[in-house]
Amino acid sequence: MKVSSHHNTDSIEQIRSEVTVCTLCKLCQTRTKAVPGEGLTSTRIMFVGEAPGRREDLEGRPFVGSAGKILEGVLQKFGFSRAEVFITNVVKCRPQGNRIPDDEERSACRDYLDREISVICPEIICILGRTAFESILGGKSIMSSRGKFIVRGERKYFLTIHPAATIYNSKLRSVLENDIRFLSQEYKKICSQNSSLLTDYMS
Ligand code: URA
Ligand code: SF4
Repeated sequence: MKVSSHHNTDSIEQIRSEVTVCTLCKLCQTRTKAVPGEGLTSTRIMFVGEAPGRREDLEGRPFVGSAGKILEGVLQKFGFSRAEVFITNVVKCRPQGNRIPDDEERSACRDYLDREISVICPEIICILGRTAFESILGGKSIMSSRGKFIVRGERKYFLTIHPAATIYNSKLRSVLENDIRFLSQEYKKICSQNSSLLTDYMS
């Protein structure tokens, strides 16, 4: 059940305002715009990618380039609209040339992601690709863990591949689609269980 997530006065707007002017790591020197997470604050599901790409860096919004089009398409296909989820990244500023963010950058940025997670308090955190898997869960091979849920502490994670991985590999497209289909089925179950609990409670 969605319990009130406001244990303190932190908010997505507060995090956004800090990220926008953040200078905690060297990526601030080369970014155009920092890219805070965005979406529905009251959502029960959150998606976490790696880092902004070129288009994201220009617009200051996550997943608006080619990987974003793929993500949006797959989400829509299985009943999630972009407007009803929250989308963010491990690192909020673009590494030049889209290199993988290094450990220093990931740890400098970590607190923003943790705060986004505690404000949103999602039922499911969907991890997109190896970098997020490594950073958040200490995982190694996303291919051998994808398509599964992992409960760690008080949070439930779902693992899948990064949408960008499907651009040049059409076989991976169906891997991503099958994972998101499964995620969507499980998500609907969780939501209906919760709403019947709520109904029981209120009646
Ligand atoms: N890839 C990511 O991991 N995040 C984005 O926001 C865009 C592309
Ligand atoms: Fe700050 Fe994160 Fe951007 Fe580094 S990547 S400057 S820690 S917002």
